[in-house]
Amino acid sequence: QLIYLDGDFVKKEDAKVSVYDHGFLYGDGVFEGIRAYNGNVFRLEEHLVRLYESAKSILLEIPYTIEEMTDVVKQTLRVNSLQSAYIRLIVSRGVGNLGIDPRSCKGASVIAIAEPLSLFPAELYETGIEIVSASSRRNRSDVLSPKTKSLNYLNNILVKIEANLAGVPEALMMNADGYVAEGSSDNIFIVKDNKLITPPGYIGALEGITRNAILEVAKERGYEAVEGVFTRHDVYVADEVFLTGTAAEVIGVVKVDGRVIGEGIPGKVTNDILEGFRSIVN
Ligand code: PDD
Repeated sequence: QLIYLDGDFVKKEDAKVSVYDHGFLYGDGVFEGIRAYNGNVFRLEEHLVRLYESAKSILLEIPYTIEEMTDVVKQTLRVNSLQSAYIRLIVSRGVGNLGIDPRSCKGASVIAIAEPLSLFPAELYETGIEIVSASSRRNRSDVLSPKTKSLNYLNNILVKIEANLAGVPEALMMNADGYVAEGSSDNIFIVKDNKLITPPGYIGALEGITRNAILEVAKERGYEAVEGVFTRHDVYVADEVFLTGTAAEVIGVVKVDGRVIGEGIPGKVTNDILEGFRSIVN
């Protein structure tokens, strides 16, 4: 496996960053999770716009044009002979001194990794997953906007730890007021009377690219699909629940905090939406 690291492709075992890299020391950097399907990099433009806007938002200068970065992504797939893969694109503030002041960093570091990856085991896409609500609240203090994706994932990791401790694959984050924001690494949709609802960014949900694609797919398939605020109660009494994300793709949720959702299997709307999603990614 070859990793893109600051202009070179290096073997996985040689792909190392300095202990003075501020991405490592402080999570000072931005990243994207992108997916290629049969050679087609899904919504690469949207991912790169989010990456560059996230970087600009934290005054991180990316030393590549968007065209050059596009080429890095495509080259990383090519050198690894991958047609379908998950791509992790990382831009860190780079090497500096031990202080947090970004001015000590002399140049951003660009890394691209491509490998076959799915967030959840394949069988869970058939059965659906059980999730719990996390006590950790969604806090976007690391960034300035729901559109920004930074390397600061401790909030998400604490939620993933709660899922692990509960013996389930994912957990939901509420915002400070108790409204449902999203999963540790994915967005959430509830379905009620054939209407799809997903939390707006101002609740603390990352404006996921998959989420936005699903809103389009749903409308094309004749569903009402809106951004809306809801609580755990609304999740418990929903007809269907599913999660979306680049790594997650679309996965049905069949139990939340011990409450069975719908018939306890991925519902017909979820399966219809998944079919629609599959048709636009290939
Ligand atoms: N995550 N919310 C959070 C907190 C996420 O980390 C992610 C993606 C999403 C879904 O966003 P998108 O549809 O743009 O991928 C929502 C990992 C990095 C991923 O799936 O690649």
